[in-house]
Amino acid sequence: MNRESLVQAAIEVRRNAHAPYSSFPVGAAIECSDGTVFTGCNVENLSFGLTMCAERVAVGVALAAGHRDFRCMAVVAETNVPISPCGACRQVLAEFRPSLPIISSTLDGTTEEFVLDQLLPRASTGILNRP
Ligand code: THU
Repeated sequence: MNRESLVQAAIEVRRNAHAPYSSFPVGAAIECSDGTVFTGCNVENLSFGLTMCAERVAVGVALAAGHRDFRCMAVVAETNVPISPCGACRQVLAEFRPSLPIISSTLDGTTEEFVLDQLLPRASTGILNRP
């Protein structure tokens, strides 16, 4: 799938976000190495702390369907500057592909591309004695 289509999938799933507390809906789409795409939106909670970001929801949906070989992620929000995944999502994504490319787009089409290990260096260093 090309980047535009992956971003489009994130735009579409963003409409399903449950974001009554922040009014900040986010959509994410993750493409697997076989081309399969899974999507997720943020799911907020009255407790605030239980909120799930779009990126982690997309990862969970993919895992539940038996896919974990990720090639690329797209994230979309309505901002002036493209967002980047929060620290918790960076760590969860690093579990599966530390060098994951992440395309972030605003609703009006401004895009920025990140590579996960630039956003989160040393994601595993020291944990359980990993190098
Ligand atoms: N959020 C995401 O879903 N992904 C991000 O990359 C940034 C933040 C959500 C969490 C919360 O529901 C709302 O956006 C405001 O932080």
